Order: sequence, then C-alpha cells, then structure tokens
Amino acid sequence: MSAPLKIGVAGLGTVGAGLVRLISEHAQDLAGRAIEIAAVSARDRNADRGVDISPYVWCDDPLDLARDEDIDVVVELIGGSDGIAKDLTQAAFNNAKHVVTANKALVAHHGTALAHDAETCGVSFSYEAAVAGGIPIIKSLREGLAGNSLNRVYGILNGTCNYILSAMSEEGREFEDILAECQKLGYAEVDPSFDIDGIDAAHKLAILASVAFGGEVNFEAVHVEGIRHISPVDMQFAKELGYSIKLLGIASIRNDGLEQRVHPCMVPAESPIAHVAGSLNAVVADGDFVGTIVQEGAGAGAGPTASAVAADIIDIARGFRVPTFGVPAGQLKTWPSVPMQHHNGAYYIRLMVVDKPGVFADIAAALRDHAVSMESVLQRTRDPGEAVPVVMTLHETEEASMTGALEEIAAVGAVVEPPRMIRIESF
Ligand SMILES: NC(=O)c1ccc[n+]([C@@H]2O[C@H](COP(=O)([O-])OP(=O)(O)OC[C@H]3O[C@@H](n4cnc5c(N)ncnc54)[C@H](OP(=O)(O)O)[C@@H]3O)[C@@H](O)[C@H]2O)c1
Repeated sequence: MSAPLKIGVAGLGTVGAGLVRLISEHAQDLAGRAIEIAAVSARDRNADRGVDISPYVWCDDPLDLARDEDIDVVVELIGGSDGIAKDLTQAAFNNAKHVVTANKALVAHHGTALAHDAETCGVSFSYEAAVAGGIPIIKSLREGLAGNSLNRVYGILNGTCNYILSAMSEEGREFEDILAECQKLGYAEVDPSFDIDGIDAAHKLAILASVAFGGEVNFEAVHVEGIRHISPVDMQFAKELGYSIKLLGIASIRNDGLEQRVHPCMVPAESPIAHVAGSLNAVVADGDFVGTIVQEGAGAGAGPTASAVAADIIDIARGFRVPTFGVPAGQLKTWPSVPMQHHNGAYYIRLMVVDKPGVFADIAAALRDHAVSMESVLQRTRDPGEAVPVVMTLHETEEASMTGALEEIAAVGAVVEPPRMIRIESF
C-alpha cells in the first residue's frame, strides 16, 4: 500500500469548504490510495464553514503549508492573481510540493512563468478548476484531444453573464434589473465587474488557448468586451433574426497568428451553444480528426469546482504527470496576436434614427465608403419626428471597415444614439 497523499488546503471559502466535504466523503475511494487533508488555512479560524475542520492542523499563515514537511500537495483556493496566492504557489514549488489551484487570475497572468518554475522544481502545477468549473475541459484538450490539431476553441465561460443574458432573453427585462436580482440572491458579486465586463471569461480563454494551441498564456492579448450594453430590444431583434445573444470567449488560429476575443455574440438559435441556458458553461473544440466536441456543465459552485480540484489531486495521487500546458514550458509557442481590427466577421448593428428624407442614403454611403455590404434591414415602426430602431445585418467584413463605417454613421445628424454593434458568429 502506498503512503497516503497528504494535502494542505489554503482557502476555505466556497471551493475550499466544498473540497473538504468531497475529500471527507470520498477519500478512501478516490485513487486506490488514501488522500488525507493534513492542514488547512484561511483568515478566520472560527468561521462556520458548514464542514468540520477540527480534525486538521490549522495554519494562520498559508505559507506554513508550503513549509510543512508532511504535506505533498498545496491546494491554493484563496484567489487573486498576485499576493498570497502567487507567493504560496512559488513557496510550494521551492519546497518540492505540487500545487493544485482553481485560480484563473493567477494562471492567466503568471501561467507561463509558473509552468517553468514547476518544471524546474520537478512538481505538477494543475488548474482544472480554473476554467469552466466542473467541466473537465483542461484534461479534454490536453489529454483526450492530444492527437488532434485544434484550430478553434470557444465557449460560454462565465455563468453569471449567461444567467443574465438567458433571463433577459426569456423575460424581456433590463440588464440592470436582472443584475440587481442576481446580487440580492448572491449569484453575482457586490462588485460584478470581473464577471459582466468579460475579464473572468478572458482569464479562462487565455488559459484554454494556451492548452489548445500549445502557446504561452497571453491574457493581455485578449480583446475583452462585457455585456453591460446589451438591451432587451437587441434581444428581441436577435430572436427575429434567428439568433441568441451569448457572451463567448473565442480563440482561433489564423494564418497571421492567434485571435483571442471575449464579447457578446449573436449565434444561430439552433446551434448547440445557443441552448446553453442559465448559469451553465459550455466549451466547444474543433479538432482535425475528432471533429467538433461540445461539453456543457456547471461552471462554478462548491460541488462542481471541488470536483475539478479533486481530479487534479487524484492525478497526483496516481503518479500521473503531464506538462502544465501540454508541452514542456520551454517548447510553448509565442503566437503573434491578431488585433481585433483585423477580425473578419458578420455584424448586427442597431441605429436609433429619426426618419428624415435622405437619412438612409447617408447611412448607405457610410457603408459603401468602407466597403461594407448590407445583408438585411429591419425597421418595424415609422414614427415621423421620433427616433425608431433600424437594424441591419452586414456581410462578412474586416472589423476596421465596420468600425470606420460606424464612426461615419454616428456622425449622421438623424442618428440620435451611438450605434450598437454585435458580432454575428456562424457556428
Ligand atoms: N466560487 C466558485 O464557484 C469558483 C469557481 C471556479 C474557480 N474559483 C476560484 O477558486 C478560488 C477560491 O474561490 P472561492 O469562491 O472559494 O473564494 P472565497 O469563497 O472568497 O474564499 C476564499 C478563501 O480564502 C481565504 N483567504 C483570503 N485571504 C487569505 C489570506 N491572506 N490567508 C489565508 N486565507 C485567505 C478566505 O478566508 P476566510 O474564509 O477566513 O475569509 C476564504 O476562506 C478563486 O481563485 C476563484 O477564482 C471559484
């Protein structure tokens, strides 16, 4: 019988307490080898965490977990890209301990350097829970799909945004209204900007792109837009046009480099991704031999996230080691990043227009000047003197042309609000 694998858990919040519960319920059956919690750390020793932590050694300082000779694996569940989470990770490596984390901010900002450090110290750095919670997407990309050349990976990577957009679509309510409700119910943070401004999804996309394409993690290169500007009227038009609006993270390899973007998208209403509702996440990968793989599941919460953390711990218990991002850190590629202005795609635009003679000619001229060609126009109401929505879909064009045309359209006197633009994806 192998000696038990001893873990030290830093952070006993949603994920940490979930992991303690999972280990105490399943420890004997997990890996054919006992997994034991040796010590735990958090800020408040006396907080009620809904799980019994009295059997474990308590450390006021999480760095003590990295120094404890009895511990094989430090599980970092504190959060934050820098500070104690990063210090603890590096201290654990320096003391020859494996690190398992759920911390997407840490991996997105420092993943490449930490992968090098882990390799130098001969330990694992594992982060399955950092992307899409309970969906085992890192393993899928890094191991299950390793025989494929992947050219695109995309998904719904933030449950809060998906919940808000789903509720807006189903109930026709305003964004602010649903966000306030989510905050009241505890589904959204008091400061929700990481979620609704797309940063959380961008962290996850940068990690996914690294694993999918064997490159260094390059969070700074992700184009990020959130969902604050999505309105019920756009939701309604999307439905009329046969689309759903989703916040997607999309990473794709092009001839000129790697494109990484997070922004609201119109996706065909019949596509699998359009059916991912509520707070669920989904990730889609296109491989040259396997075809398209779609995985859907809970992207957050104590149970699903603890499930992913446990999977990484079990790999270590079994002695299963793979390079952090699939290839040795020294072999990670430095992909040139494709700027958003070079993105090619189709577009939806909504203009609030006062119906005056000549206004459509001005709009058409702006599109013509930038070589943008129109696919369809929708104007449901006419109200002389009042602004009414005019919706257009545009054929595939370069983003630089679209933004140039929109600047010219915004300057047309009868266009009374800044134009709204949503990119259309044809999955
Ligand atoms: N929540 C999710 O569903 C989810 C999903 C995927 C990934 N994640 C990631 O998992 C990590 C943890 O998230 P969470 O939701 O569990 O966070 P959380 O509920 O806020 O818990 C954070 C824990 O860290 C402890 N902590 C904070 N600063 C500390 C310090 N200086 N020293 C020691 N302990 C400290 C806190 O202690 P006290 O409790 O004593 O204050 C708390 O137990 C984050 O990286 C997050 O992005 C979370």
